[in-house]
Amino acid sequence: MYQTTPDTISDEAISQFKQRGFIKIPGVISKEEATHFHDAALEASARVDQGRDRPVFSQHVNVWREDETMRALTLHKNVGGVAQRLAGVPMRLWHDHILIKQPNNQVATEFHQDQPYWPHAHSPNALSAWIALCDVPVERGCMSFIAGSHRHSDLTAQNLLDGRDLFGKCPDLEYEERVTLPLKAGDCTFHHARCAHMAVPNQTDRPRVAHVVIFMDQTTTYVEKNHVVTDPLDLQEGQRIEGELFPAV
Ligand code: SIN
Ligand code: NI
Repeated sequence: MYQTTPDTISDEAISQFKQRGFIKIPGVISKEEATHFHDAALEASARVDQGRDRPVFSQHVNVWREDETMRALTLHKNVGGVAQRLAGVPMRLWHDHILIKQPNNQVATEFHQDQPYWPHAHSPNALSAWIALCDVPVERGCMSFIAGSHRHSDLTAQNLLDGRDLFGKCPDLEYEERVTLPLKAGDCTFHHARCAHMAVPNQTDRPRVAHVVIFMDQTTTYVEKNHVVTDPLDLQEGQRIEGELFPAV
């Protein structure tokens, strides 16, 4: 049913992911599932945005805890299974988010690494699945990645709205290969949590609808740092982030 599964993913794909920090995996969910989750994602985000001005970029974190339909995508066996094969170690859910770029928006998500934003230690293999729920050609705001950038583990968090910030912090990355990966509905890119990535604006007249599921090592421990997911929890520095809010793959 799926073009790529944990059993069929090639060693070549896994080693490319390890080397470059990202990979495109076609058909991680079916076209029918993509359409079903596309509509559910738009409905879930309209519920949350109700009464607010429509933002250029909407981000809804941990939808899986509130929306039965989206929960099935976040906990989708094929997505988690492929993520765990790429990571090569036991993983658990960190969080999910629906990322919608409204039609004709002018705002890029500038180059950044994800991990510096997270209150984590002992999670060297964390990675994100960015699942296209509609066709995402370059003009609709697909992702680009900097090959090998996941090896930079010492950078402080980069400003998502400042296209120069990452390169100011790490000038070498300006000369590394950049890869832009348009996706069809149901395709997915996986990127390592320290792989620098960006997404161009959506210049089309349809929303760009993506669902991102983020996985962390089962060994991940808490480091004191503000984060929307862990702020409501009473975690102590050094404690494992685990339990029913962070289900194992
Ligand atoms: C985006 O989809 O615009 C950005 C996603 C990300 O930063 O992971
Ligand atoms: Ni990111």
